[in-house]
Amino acid sequence: MHKIAVFPGDGIGLEVTAQAMKVLRKIEEISALRFETEELLAGGASIDKYGVPLTTENLEKAQKTEAVFLGAVGGPKWDNLPSEKRPEKGLLALRKGLNAYANVRPVKMFPQLVFRSPIKEEIVKGLDFVILRELVSGIYFGSLRGIERLPDGAERGFNTMSYTTFEIERVARKAFEFARKRRKKVTSVDKANVLEVSQLWRKVVTTVAKDYPDVELSHRYVDDCAMQLIRDPRQFDVIVTGNLFGDILSDESAMLTGSIGMLPSASVGDKVAMFEPVHGSAPDIAGRDMANPLATILSLAMMMEYSFDQAVLARRIEKAVEAVLADGYRTVDIYTEGTTKVGCDKMGDLVVQKLTVA
Ligand code: IPM
Ligand code: MG
Repeated sequence: MHKIAVFPGDGIGLEVTAQAMKVLRKIEEISALRFETEELLAGGASIDKYGVPLTTENLEKAQKTEAVFLGAVGGPKWDNLPSEKRPEKGLLALRKGLNAYANVRPVKMFPQLVFRSPIKEEIVKGLDFVILRELVSGIYFGSLRGIERLPDGAERGFNTMSYTTFEIERVARKAFEFARKRRKKVTSVDKANVLEVSQLWRKVVTTVAKDYPDVELSHRYVDDCAMQLIRDPRQFDVIVTGNLFGDILSDESAMLTGSIGMLPSASVGDKVAMFEPVHGSAPDIAGRDMANPLATILSLAMMMEYSFDQAVLARRIEKAVEAVLADGYRTVDIYTEGTTKVGCDKMGDLVVQKLTVA
């Protein structure tokens, strides 16, 4: 029996997580695996019930499981709370509390969705790279932060981006190890032409690279990388970068594939890994059965591989998603004329149907 903590979160997080759970139950039918899931509150849902975006008790519960699965957090209802109380803080506390320092975001083009990409087919066709985003440090966690009142009555807001050698090294190692299993290319992204923190980042990544002579390392400034992702995204294999740059570049990369509703993620670190779609809680479409559950279902596939060592099952889930797309089913975000529009719930059922005994 494998123990999983499930945080559906807010907004479409609830709907998409429900679809992934259907897939999980189906996996139990077609394999010898058994999962004990406990649903816990995080984000706005936790604020409403407990007054905080993540309780210590729920974090401790998550730490005692084998894997954590999360939908999405946030929504306009909680937007005006002070930053310590916002739903996003719950997510950050969970990542930090699990020490899930390496966030793996695969960016893969599904052939059926090439036409949905805002970028020309010849540029995005066959796209396949991974963003490794540092997830528990950098400017999101810099303790020198705040909004202060100046003598003249105006305000000053500030945050600090900091990385230690240790923090850079461990995520860099993950990047090189990933690249070894892929096309053996690492691109480290920083802003070393301006920021000291990036100069250290570059130095440490370069040192780590010496242990991986079979992997080719290159460096790019983040602004250049943002441009290259549109100009020639297929040049990338593994991109390794800090928390803020990774957040931004992964949303940009998602758009290359046609929809952010397709991108899964895994956050790995010490022991308990965490799995969540790259997209947010999409309050504008929440509760209307319009969300795309595929990113979440693909995150479940990543969980099978990373936490339970079930690579074969992971591939089967991915194949099931591909098969549903090949049959022409689309949620509204990936819909094109001539395909069949379905809701979130139906999309979940379709993937489950494809997961019959091999
Ligand atoms: C993401 C999200 C989160 C982040 C938000 C919701 C805090 O944008 O997972 O990319 O910035 O990490
Ligand atoms: Mg983001």
